[in-house]
Amino acid sequence: MAKIILTGDRPTGRLHVGHYVGSLKRRVELQNSGEFDEIYIMIADAQALTDNMDNPEKVRQNIIEVALDYLACGLDPEKSVLFIQSQIPQLCEMTFYYMDLVTVSRLQRNPTVKSEIQMRNFEASIPVGFFTYPISQAADITAFKATTVPVGEDQAPMIEQTREIVHKFNSIYGETLVTPDILLPDNKACLRLPGIDGKAKMSKSLGNCIYLSDSEEEIKKKIMSMFTDPNHLRVEDPGNVEGNPVFIYLDAFCRDEHFEKYLPDYKNLDELKAHYTRGGLGDVKVKRFLNNVLQDELRPIRERRQEFAKDIPAVYKILEEGSRKAEAKAAQTLAEMKRAMKINYFEDRELIEEQAKRFGGES
Ligand code: TRP
Repeated sequence: MAKIILTGDRPTGRLHVGHYVGSLKRRVELQNSGEFDEIYIMIADAQALTDNMDNPEKVRQNIIEVALDYLACGLDPEKSVLFIQSQIPQLCEMTFYYMDLVTVSRLQRNPTVKSEIQMRNFEASIPVGFFTYPISQAADITAFKATTVPVGEDQAPMIEQTREIVHKFNSIYGETLVTPDILLPDNKACLRLPGIDGKAKMSKSLGNCIYLSDSEEEIKKKIMSMFTDPNHLRVEDPGNVEGNPVFIYLDAFCRDEHFEKYLPDYKNLDELKAHYTRGGLGDVKVKRFLNNVLQDELRPIRERRQEFAKDIPAVYKILEEGSRKAEAKAAQTLAEMKRAMKINYFEDRELIEEQAKRFGGES
């Protein structure tokens, strides 16, 4: 069976280092591994509209920001199909049929939807489109027959719900759709990178993100202002590395080579952590090291982004061509679905003959 990747992001802001370690970096590695037959990367504008219906301009502006972030990270339109969700009408059609296979109570139990409803104060009046977006996400995944969905941990309930829809569809209408597997980051620190303020999640609305497009100075300023262990007041005090965002970022980003280059007194992160825990290591020194590590990682990304930004029409062209390819694939899957669901009347000669006989006429 073909190995196919589908994943994507909502265009509600520029992408940040949480997106990067949580999924983007992995996507590029998977793309370059040559192990996959097809790769689809989607800018989920229709999903973004489910909770930004009154702000279409925001979604429109951020399409190009996300596309630039993708290209800057190394997603290559020669190897991956980059496309825009709203340009694939088949996804709506699939969603409509999947709605028959999902109950309201099952949607209400989806933990991601539950917490998002709370976050957005939607309790009293949930837009139907928002409430049902897990079903539309199942269409996104199954339209491309994706076997592998590389995403952050928060998306696990969506993949689970997709798998249920696939099983239900296949058991009623016959084997048609492919069951996808989630692919989570294997580095635990990358599952959910905290914000620079120590809050559990990096999020634009909390203003605690380091963006892939931030300048060198912005990155430095953010790192030097980062939350650390609040009880580590003086250099000599013993410090705590658990739950300390500076060390979580180091877990996510630093490699032994970085010590050789920037902090040769230590061999690796374990040694640095041990010193911090023991006491005698100041936050500023650790933050400076983190700054060097992160600057090394983000500099090439920022520079590539600036290169791609010089020719914005070409970026739209990439998205347009990707959307055309994606639509062709989705149309193929939808045709198979409609055949399985017996709603392919006009291509079904047998049906027409059968009905003609039943009515005693000629075919
Ligand atoms: N829900 C994802 C997010 O918020 C975006 C998304 C939409 C997606 N459809 C998808 C991710 C399909 C993976 C697969 O970032």
